[in-house]
Amino acid sequence: MKRIITYGTYDLLHYGHISLLKRARELGDYLIVALSTDAFNWNSKQKKCYFSYEKRKQLLEAVRYVDLVIPEECWEQKAEDVKLYKVDVFVMGDDWKGKFDFLKEQCEVVYLPRTPEISTTQIKKELGK
Ligand code: CTP
Repeated sequence: MKRIITYGTYDLLHYGHISLLKRARELGDYLIVALSTDAFNWNSKQKKCYFSYEKRKQLLEAVRYVDLVIPEECWEQKAEDVKLYKVDVFVMGDDWKGKFDFLKEQCEVVYLPRTPEISTTQIKKELGK
């Protein structure tokens, strides 16, 4: 079984997220999403989520491409997660291109093209008008 992992906040789940998850899952048989906790978002990314971690987790668990959701609590956990979950492929959107190449010692690293013209930030901006 080929196991995939990807990381992110996935607030206000949108079609760009779904497309990323679909393409990530197609690279193997089992997709793990490491979902940024509210504390990690706030302390490390200065991001305040609209939906709580629990709500974001519920939404992701309802997506057919997602097999398991685990918490992302710090930047440094990736190497350990890859080992712990026996990950074959680490996937991120290409806004992170090159940033996680150090994991290539442990598994395949793939950056998938982002869907243009949609992001949580953009949605918040538009609705804030
Ligand atoms: N993603 C994507 N295409 C988009 C938006 C996001 O492929 N248009 C991917 C990202 O590259 C990442 C995952 O979806 O791998 C989760 O991204 P996240 O940062 O949670 O979503 P964004 O909409 O980019 O949120 P923000 O605007 O807060 O950065």
